[in-house]
Amino acid sequence: MASSSPDSKRLTKPFSLATLLVMVSCCTHFALAAREVPAAGNDKAMRERYEKWMAEHGRTYKNSAEKARRFEIFKSNAHFIDSYNAAAGPGAKSRPGLTTNNFADLTEAEFNNIYIRRRSLPRPPSVVETGFMYGNVCLSHIPASIDWREKGAVTPVKDQGSCGCCWAFSAVAAVEGIHQIKTQNLTSLSEQQLMDCSTGANNRGCNLGDMNEAFRHIVHSGGLTTEEAYGYEAKQSTCRSSGKQAAAKIRGFQYVPPLNETALLLAVAHQPVSIALDGNNTAFRFFDGTGIFGAADEQCTTELNHAVTAVGYGTDENGSKYWLMKNSWGSRWADMGYVKIARDVASNTGLCGLAMQASYPVA
Ligand SMILES: *[C@@H]1O[C@H](CO)[C@@H](O)[C@H](O)[C@H]1NC(C)=O
Ligand SMILES: *[C@@H]1O[C@H](CO)[C@@H](O)[C@H](O)[C@H]1NC(C)=O
Ligand SMILES: *[C@@H]1O[C@H](CO)[C@@H](O)[C@H](O)[C@H]1NC(C)=O
Ligand SMILES: *[C@@H]1O[C@H](CO)[C@@H](O)[C@H](O)[C@H]1NC(C)=O
Repeated sequence: MASSSPDSKRLTKPFSLATLLVMVSCCTHFALAAREVPAAGNDKAMRERYEKWMAEHGRTYKNSAEKARRFEIFKSNAHFIDSYNAAAGPGAKSRPGLTTNNFADLTEAEFNNIYIRRRSLPRPPSVVETGFMYGNVCLSHIPASIDWREKGAVTPVKDQGSCGCCWAFSAVAAVEGIHQIKTQNLTSLSEQQLMDCSTGANNRGCNLGDMNEAFRHIVHSGGLTTEEAYGYEAKQSTCRSSGKQAAAKIRGFQYVPPLNETALLLAVAHQPVSIALDGNNTAFRFFDGTGIFGAADEQCTTELNHAVTAVGYGTDENGSKYWLMKNSWGSRWADMGYVKIARDVASNTGLCGLAMQASYPVA
């Protein structure tokens, strides 16, 4: 079990931690996919389940009052998860489920406060201004599926911790990707440098941010240094770029034409792409990572409040099309930190708005 992983202890003090939370996904072979067994409806069974969950997640609390409080929150989340999973009913089409993952003892408000941006992203300028270099690629010339992890262009899943800076993680993963594709050198790059140094109109550390402003900053500052040289602190500090060597440079960035999953496909076929979407819903938060999110009736809106990175696409054995997304909620979330999201199913916004504001760095 991964009880020694940094994020297993993180939530013992949910709001004050500034620990280094980089996860090494290859060390975490626990199975999150097992469906929850519905509790017998009494507190004793629920308490046993809670103790088991605490042990699994290496969770401890500062005192018994805090534990009692967290138990009530866990219970309420577990009830929601059980009834969600039970709603499929016997004989229902197989579908993804939810699980009491590492967020199960947080209230929705606490979770949102940490992981979800308080405001929507700023609207980007039009694609016409940046161009779309993959616009003339023939669909027949791109692979039927791609997983940039297999091509060595994706670093292990990271954990943004108690800081709403998904924008930095999304931008960095896209830069790591194009850097590896151009140089064959996969290097983990610094989100903290963006947090501290990319502080324009839209980028405000843990509170708000924009991947495109981050790309612009990387262009003008001459590149990003490594995670190793400028480690993650989960809080904004003063910019300490001087003397730090750039490990990856980009020349610019482009927007994927919005409201067009075909255009997004052409882009992701060539490199990992930064994606804004709605991550503020219970199904996404507790998604157990089996199957494809959105293949059943998981609900989300097109309110863009979270950012991830598209690192692939494909079609499962039953013909369901998906996007492969890398998140920054640690490797205990969903499928080792990744999620497959249904592709070409929603209106032109893409499911959860994923096709509304995608962009990628140009190296
Ligand atoms: C998240 O969703 C909840 C419930 O739908 C809503 O009350 C809240 O305002 C949302 N927060 C953000 C940041 O979108
Ligand atoms: C979507 O993007 C593709 C590729 O750039 C383009 O050929 C197609 O015309 C676009 N569709 C719409 C509706 O704009
Ligand atoms: C890859 O890039 C890193 C950071 O610039 C550098 O330290 C390392 O030597 C490079 N590796 C190779 C094999 O070139
Ligand atoms: C494909 O469909 C079969 C039959 O409904 C189901 O058992 C299986 O789990 C499905 N596979 C995936 C990957 O969803």
